Amino acid sequence: MTKITDYDKFGYDYKEYWKDRVYEDKAERIVLERYLKDFKGKFFLDIGGSFGRNLQAYRFIDETPIILDYSLKTLKKYKNEILKQHPKVRLIAANAYNMPFKKNCIDASILIRTLHHIEEQERLFDEINRVMKNNGIFILEYANKLHLKARIKWLLKLDFDKFSTQPYQQPTKGHFEGSRDGEEATFLNFHPRNITKLLHNSDFKILKKTNCSFFRIKFLKKLVPFPLLMAFEKFFQKTLSWTNISPSIVLKNQKIGEKAGETFQSFEEILCCPGCKEDLEFSKQNAKCKNCKKTFEQENGIWDFRI
Ligand SMILES: C[S@@+](CC[C@H](N)C(=O)[O-])C[C@H]1O[C@@H](n2cnc3c(N)ncnc32)[C@H](O)[C@@H]1O
Ligand SMILES: [Zn+2]
Repeated sequence: MTKITDYDKFGYDYKEYWKDRVYEDKAERIVLERYLKDFKGKFFLDIGGSFGRNLQAYRFIDETPIILDYSLKTLKKYKNEILKQHPKVRLIAANAYNMPFKKNCIDASILIRTLHHIEEQERLFDEINRVMKNNGIFILEYANKLHLKARIKWLLKLDFDKFSTQPYQQPTKGHFEGSRDGEEATFLNFHPRNITKLLHNSDFKILKKTNCSFFRIKFLKKLVPFPLLMAFEKFFQKTLSWTNISPSIVLKNQKIGEKAGETFQSFEEILCCPGCKEDLEFSKQNAKCKNCKKTFEQENGIWDFRI
């Protein structure tokens, strides 16, 4: 069975992680805003969207942004904050491997800082491809195993095996991102060539690549004034994105396909059973699959489609 990194298991509050990381947050925002500025479409999906950190980058989308995350506790805790920023956001607790959407309905999707928790990357990319419209945009951020610090460390240790295209499991000691002492959470860093292959296998074409977060070094962040740090970050994103030396890489991809497909009007219209993918029958508080008869609850505006 595929392991899911379940933040609810240990009550991990991911928002805490961002308290002292203004630089990283801003560095990613710059790329996201650049990639999304020409977005036109109706259904926008933030997969592993958590407490809505990236909402600022897609706040301009009138309807319908959707935040999907496995952590129901996070969605419940931050629902009001999210809706304050954007009242039209829809919240769904679900497993990204089995999303409750019909095929070809999502205009654009993002997967930011989430792939490191995913053991079966190709299965996830196939699922994202299934729900996306042809020519739809899929923005992927991943942790780069070939970042400069790692390269230097492995070279000094003559540890050449680490340069392989295999994902690298980063040690997650302590209470960190869904893990606890003695229990490793999935935390994978990826080789850029591996990601290119996986996306290609799932019928995505890479349109743009940006290296991001060049200055993820404590003393630099303290030493260099913030506006200057961001100016350097922007400059490096523009000039050094071919190098793959940054800890984070963001790709703008497009689903390959020609046919326009069906047009969906309402949010409920795009939903389906996350298991068998058949239609749902809606009542006030729940939805029942017409085929397998599974029932999914909606509580306080949050759908629970986890299977
Ligand atoms: C490190 S956080 C990133 C959150 C957000 N994308 C950001 O950039 O701030 C990873 C998120 O992915 C969610 N997640 C992990 N595995 C998942 C899965 N299989 N399906 C849905 N969400 C998942 C976690 O619950 C968590 O909220
Ligand atoms: Zn079903």
